[in-house]
Amino acid sequence: MIVKAAAAALLGLGCTFADAVSLPLTDGRPAGPFVKRQSAPAKYTPTASDLESGCANIGRVAASFARTVEAANASSFQVDPKIAYDCLASIPLDKEPVTIFLNEIRKFVQFQSTLEYLARPPDKSGQDPMDILSGLIDIGSAVNSSSITSWYEVETRVEKLLGGCHEGHLYVAWVLPSLINFRAPFQLVSLSEDGTQLPKVYVADDVALERGRVSGTNASAITHIDGEDVVTAIDKLMYYESSQSPDVRWNAAFQTQNPPKQGDFYTRTRYPGANTFILTFENGTSTEYPYIANALNVPGGSLWSSLASGQDIWDKLINVPPRQNTGAAGKLRVRALEDNKHRIQRTPLDDAIDRLTKRQSNDNVAPPPEQLIRYDGDFPDTPGVSPFIQDINKVIGGYFMADYDDRESKTAIIDITGFSPDDPTAQFATQAVQAAVELFLEEAQRRKMERLIIDVRGNGGGFVNMGYDLYKQLFPSSEPYAGTRLRNHPASLKIAQAFTQLVDQDVINGLIRDIGGGMGENLSNAQLSRYQNAQYASLSNLNQYLNLDANGSTFRSFDDFFGPVDIYDDQFTHILTYDLNNLLAVGDLGYSITGYGDRASYATKPAPFKPENIVLVTDGTCASTCGIFAEFLRNQQKIRTVVIGGRPNRDPSVAVGGTRGAQVIQHTAHMLNFVQIIENNFAPVDAAEKAEWDQIFPRPFQMNIAEAAVNWKDNIRATDPTQTPLQFYLEAADCRLFYTKQTLVYSHELWNKVDDLAWGSEDSCAQGSLKNATVVLGDANGVPVSIGRSSTAGYNSGANGDLPQLTGDYDVDTALWIWYGVRHSFGASRGRNI
Ligand SMILES: *[C@@H]1O[C@H](CO)[C@@H](O)[C@H](O)[C@H]1NC(C)=O
Ligand SMILES: *[C@@H]1O[C@H](CO)[C@@H](O)[C@H](O)[C@H]1NC(C)=O
Ligand SMILES: *[C@@H]1O[C@H](CO)[C@@H](O)[C@H](O)[C@H]1NC(C)=O
Ligand SMILES: *[C@@H]1O[C@H](CO)[C@@H](O)[C@H](O)[C@H]1NC(C)=O
Ligand SMILES: *[C@@H]1O[C@H](CO)[C@@H](O)[C@H](O)[C@H]1NC(C)=O
Ligand SMILES: *[C@@H]1O[C@H](CO)[C@@H](O)[C@H](O)[C@H]1NC(C)=O
Ligand SMILES: *[C@@H]1O[C@H](CO)[C@@H](O)[C@H](O)[C@H]1NC(C)=O
Repeated sequence: MIVKAAAAALLGLGCTFADAVSLPLTDGRPAGPFVKRQSAPAKYTPTASDLESGCANIGRVAASFARTVEAANASSFQVDPKIAYDCLASIPLDKEPVTIFLNEIRKFVQFQSTLEYLARPPDKSGQDPMDILSGLIDIGSAVNSSSITSWYEVETRVEKLLGGCHEGHLYVAWVLPSLINFRAPFQLVSLSEDGTQLPKVYVADDVALERGRVSGTNASAITHIDGEDVVTAIDKLMYYESSQSPDVRWNAAFQTQNPPKQGDFYTRTRYPGANTFILTFENGTSTEYPYIANALNVPGGSLWSSLASGQDIWDKLINVPPRQNTGAAGKLRVRALEDNKHRIQRTPLDDAIDRLTKRQSNDNVAPPPEQLIRYDGDFPDTPGVSPFIQDINKVIGGYFMADYDDRESKTAIIDITGFSPDDPTAQFATQAVQAAVELFLEEAQRRKMERLIIDVRGNGGGFVNMGYDLYKQLFPSSEPYAGTRLRNHPASLKIAQAFTQLVDQDVINGLIRDIGGGMGENLSNAQLSRYQNAQYASLSNLNQYLNLDANGSTFRSFDDFFGPVDIYDDQFTHILTYDLNNLLAVGDLGYSITGYGDRASYATKPAPFKPENIVLVTDGTCASTCGIFAEFLRNQQKIRTVVIGGRPNRDPSVAVGGTRGAQVIQHTAHMLNFVQIIENNFAPVDAAEKAEWDQIFPRPFQMNIAEAAVNWKDNIRATDPTQTPLQFYLEAADCRLFYTKQTLVYSHELWNKVDDLAWGSEDSCAQGSLKNATVVLGDANGVPVSIGRSSTAGYNSGANGDLPQLTGDYDVDTALWIWYGVRHSFGASRGRNI
C-alpha cells in the first residue's frame, strides 16, 4: 500500500492506480547498507540447493506473514527476490503436456493475421523479424531434447517470442506472474523542464520531495542504470513491450497520471535477472537497490503450505486443465484473468450474451440517457478539474476550458482513456458513452464552442462500435472506412464455410425480424440458440453475409468474400467492411451506431466542429479501437495530432503506436466457442476429415493457462496498393511534446498548452508544428509513409551458430536476447513445416 501512497503523494492526490498491487511494505524505499559501485550487479544463477529450498523458503515467509494484521486483506506479501526466483526456477515440466500446449499455440497463431509480415517485416516498419512458427518449434525441440527443463523458462521464451512481435493483440496470459512477480522499489518519471527541452529520467519520489522545479538542486536525474547509459538501458528493458514504436515502448517505462499507470520500470512481472540494480545520478552518486518480489496471499487460506517445492507448483497449479479445476489452480487462473484485464478486453458480444442470459427480466432494456450520465463528478484521470459530463462508467469525460480557466475560451475537450469500462460488469457501456457524447456536443453547441481537443492518451481500445459511434457523432455525414481482412488458412476457411452455411441470409433476416431492438427478450430456446450462433459468427467475421466488400456492397459469392487473395507470399480474404446498418453484424441488437439503424436520421446533422478545429492528443499508446478511430480522424478528416513523450531526441514520433490491428480474438473465450458451434452443427464426413479437424482446430488448453489471443484482422488503407497492414507503418504525429511536472499530473495544463500551440500564441513543439503541420498522411498517392528505420542487417537465420542481429531501431546486446529470425532467410517464408 505504501508504494501506492507514495505515488499518489507525488501526484498530490488520492487517486488509485490502475494496476496497483497492494504491497504490505513498511517502507517504499529499501533500507541500507548499500555500497557505492558502478558496474552491474552480477546476474544471479541459483545453485541446486537454492532451487531445492526456494519454494519452502517462501512458505516460511508466508507462515509468518499469516500471523500479521495485514494478512487478512493483503493480495500479496513481499519476499526476497532471490528466493522468489529460486522457487520459480525450480518448477519442472513434463514434456508431453508442454509439447501439446506449444502445438496448441501453433494452431492458434495460424489465425494471427500478420504471421508472414512478422517473419519478414516490410522495410521501414521498425519491426524486427519474428518467425513465430519456427520459434515455437525451437522451443518445443529444446523441451523435447531436455535442454529446457524449467517451466518458467518455457513461459519466458514464449513471452519473448510473442513480445518481440510488438503486437498488443498477440499474447499468452500466464498464471505464474499472478503467483510470484517482481517490482522495482520505486517508479520513474521522464520529465522536461518546459515541454520542449529533452527530458531526463528521475526517481518519481525524488521529484515529489521537491514539489517545485524539476531541475532544481535537489532532484538529480538518473544518468546510468547498472553502469549503462540510461537511455540505452531503458530502451533495452522495454524491448518486449507491445508497441511497434520504440518511443511508445519508452513511455511504457514511466509513471503517468492520465491514465494512472505505475510504469513498467516498476512493474517487472518477470525476474529481472539479478537481485539488485544500481542507479547513477547526475550528482555523481551511485546507489544499489534491491528488487522486490511479491508472492500471492490468499487471505484465510494456506496456499503456500501445500507448495513446498517447484514440483508442487507444477502438479497443483500449472499442469492442470483449466476446465477441470475448482481449487487453488482455478482461483489462480481467475486472479490471472483479473491481473490481465488491461489486455483481455470484453467485446460487445460478451455484453449481448450477458443480456441474453437474463432475457426474461427487464434488466436488458437500456435506461434512459439521463440515467447513464453524470454531471460535474470527479474523474480519476484528471485531478484538479472535473468533466462537465461523463458516462456512469467513467469511460469518457467532456470538459470546457472556460469552466476551469478564466479565459473566454471556445475550446472543448473530450478525454477518453479506453473504449470500454474498467469494470467488466458495467452495463450498457456503449449506450452510456453514446449518451454522454451526445449531451456534451449539444452543450458545446449551446455554448458556441469552436474548437475541440480529443485526448486519447493511454487508450488501448475496447468496443469497436464505441469508436465508430464517437467518430459519427463528430462527423455525422461521413462514412467511416476501415478495410479489414483475415488470414485465409485451412482452419479459418473451414470455420467460415460452416458459419456461412449455418447463419445464412434467411437466419439473419429472421433474427432481425424477431428480435429487432428488443435485445432478445422472451426468445424461445431455438431462437436463442440461433442468436448465439449468429453472435459468434458475427464476432468471428467468418461469415459472408455479415460483412460487406470494400465498396460497401454485399458479397456475391463465398469466394468473393473469402478468397484466397495472394499477397506478400501469404493468403487472405478479400477486403471486408462493417455493415453498420446490420445490428447483428455490429454485434449488438440493442445498440445502433449514430447515423445507422434507429439513429439513421443523425446522418444529416451538421458536424459540431470543423476538422481544422480539432486536435488529437496521444501518448503513442493508441491501440486497437483507438487506432481505428484515429485512422478515421487522420485519414478521412486530416486532423492534426500531438504526441507526448518518447525517447529524449528530436526525431518525429508516432501518433498511433499501439496495435493497429482491427480485431483481437481470444483463444478460450472466443475461438473455442467458434469451434464448438461448428462441431455441434456439422460432423466430419469421414475419419480423415475428423483427423484434419483435430489437427487444425484449436482445442482447450490442457494446462492452466489464463488466456491467449491473436490479432484477427488487419486494417488496410484504401489507397495502399501493396495492402500492407497499417501495423507496419509508423506514422508521425504533427507535433511532439514532452511531459513537464505540471502536464504529467494535470491534464488541463497539457490541454492549455495544446490549445496555445494549435490556436494561440505558442509555436514551438519539441519537434514538428501544429500551426504549420507538415505531416501529410501518405505520399502523393495516399500510400502511408513510415518513419521506422530501414533494415540494415538483412534477415536473420536465427539458426545454428548464426549470430542473431536485431534489424530494428537499435543495436541491442544480442547475447541478452532470445532471438527468432526467419530460419532459412528468404526461403522459409512460412516458417518451417513439421
Ligand atoms: C479488511 O477489509 C475489511 C473490509 O474491507 C475491513 O473491514 C477490515 O478492517 C480490513 N482489515 C484490515 C486488517 O485492514
Ligand atoms: C522427441 O525426442 C525423441 C527422441 O528423444 C524423438 O524420437 C521424437 O521424435 C522427438 N519429438 C519431437 C516432437 O521432436
Ligand atoms: C532543496 O534545495 C533547497 C535549496 O536549494 C533546500 O532549501 C531544500 O531543503 C532542499 N530540499 C530537500 C528535500 O533536500
Ligand atoms: C544525488 O541525487 C540522488 C537522486 O536525487 C539523491 O538520492 C542523492 O541523495 C544525491 N546525492 C547527493 C550526495 O546529493
Ligand atoms: C416478455 O414476457 C413478459 C412476461 O410474459 C411480458 O410482460 C413482456 O411484455 C414480454 N416482452 C416482449 C418484448 O414481448
Ligand atoms: C469497387 O468499386 C471500384 C470502382 O467502381 C471497382 O473498380 C472495384 O473493383 C470495386 N471493388 C469491389 C471489391 O467490388
Ligand atoms: C511551413 O512548413 C513549410 C515546410 O516545412 C515551410 O516551407 C514553410 O515556410 C512553413 N511556414 C511557416 C509559416 O512556418
